[in-house]
Amino acid sequence: MSKPILDHIGIAVDDLDAAIELYRDKLGFEVESIDEVPGFGVKVAFLPLGEGQVELVMPVTDDSAIAKFLSKRGPGFHHLCFRVDDLRAELARLEEMGIELVDKEPREGAHGTLVAFLHPRSTGGVLIELAQHI
Ligand code: CO
Repeated sequence: MSKPILDHIGIAVDDLDAAIELYRDKLGFEVESIDEVPGFGVKVAFLPLGEGQVELVMPVTDDSAIAKFLSKRGPGFHHLCFRVDDLRAELARLEEMGIELVDKEPREGAHGTLVAFLHPRSTGGVLIELAQHI
């Protein structure tokens, strides 16, 4: 992997409007976009932070991974996302090195990205997402 680039920090929220109010109106962030990502059963808001962004993630379906996370752990830090140039190649390289993949194939993320998650079991308990901007 070339030098890692932070794409975004994912925060699980159960109330997107309340979270936006906190980040925008109290913490001074700007909201760049709000979108649903049907493949993940979530609604997300992106808020620029330096070279990267904060992603506020709220479930819109009960069977989404985020809904399960919230019911188990409650709202809070959820994942780190690094930007990569060639997601397929990165997944193959990491799997070869013994990293367990949640997604063996790239999935459609927000804003025309391809994304995939690495399993926290093999990354020290931190859920890591990789994103390729296409
Ligand atoms: Co993310």
